[in-house]
Amino acid sequence: MKKLSQIAMLTLLTCLLPLLSLVSEAAMDRDKLLKDPGVYGTFAVFQVDEDWWKLDKPARMSAVSEMKAVFQKHSETVITDAYLLRGLVEKADFLVRIHSPEILSNQNFLIDLMGTTLGKHLKNTYTFNGITKALAYVPSFPEELKAELKTPPPQGSPYVIVVPIRKDAEWWISGQDARNGMMKEHTDATVSYLKTVKRKLYHASGLDDWDFITYFETSKLDDFNNLVIGLLKVKENRHNKRFGDPLLLGTIRPLDEILEILSR
Ligand code: HEM
Repeated sequence: MKKLSQIAMLTLLTCLLPLLSLVSEAAMDRDKLLKDPGVYGTFAVFQVDEDWWKLDKPARMSAVSEMKAVFQKHSETVITDAYLLRGLVEKADFLVRIHSPEILSNQNFLIDLMGTTLGKHLKNTYTFNGITKALAYVPSFPEELKAELKTPPPQGSPYVIVVPIRKDAEWWISGQDARNGMMKEHTDATVSYLKTVKRKLYHASGLDDWDFITYFETSKLDDFNNLVIGLLKVKENRHNKRFGDPLLLGTIRPLDEILEILSR
């Protein structure tokens, strides 16, 4: 009897181990994609049309399940994050941030999403594309500033802000040394916010009408407001031909919660 239960336990472990390693591999991939250079980020903003709200509740719930299945289907090729913008941004209900090493995978995911019943009720009001890259200026900074930049970012923040930025021709024409100096000034103005603001930078020149897509997470929007005011005062800001417009502000929520709000 004891032997039988030992055999059963061994069989169970043999079945579970590959599954467990799959789960940790998937988690590792997410961390890696969010950290590595050479990863494409697509920010797709959607607004639900008027007709969606005229559907009855069962129809909306079934459409929501159909959309969830699309996220599931593409989870091996892209990682996704969902944000609720409804009420905080005009012409926008939710944002999906998609990452993968091939922008084709981001596109295939969005084609499927737009092809669902809910997708057909969505207006794609904005899309930004960018790629993550190795640091261009930090290597030129003093060691003390480099060390400060290693401050761990906050985790689990509720708010997201996305600011697309277009630089002027002067910025690109000025030499690396001049830009190193201006970016040091930019960084000096920001380091005190490292504890409350998590950031991620995407390079967009040639992939979009923008040069950068800047992405932030925080629980302290008052800090973010002061951070931006500080940055508006540094020389580098003279080279921001366009800053936001649109600027996106939303809340970071699980996909299920956002879809539940849309199916209410
Ligand atoms: C905690 C707050 C922030 C810190 C610590 C920070 C720091 C930095 C650093 C160190 C770089 C240079 C990266 C490199 O070496 O390539 C950089 C680049 C940049 N930052 Fe910030 N930043 C912050 C907030 C912001 C904000 C609020 C904006 C605008 C909304 C912004 C816009 C940019 C842009 C556009 C670049 C790219 C410049 C370029 O490559 O030419 N940053 N930031």
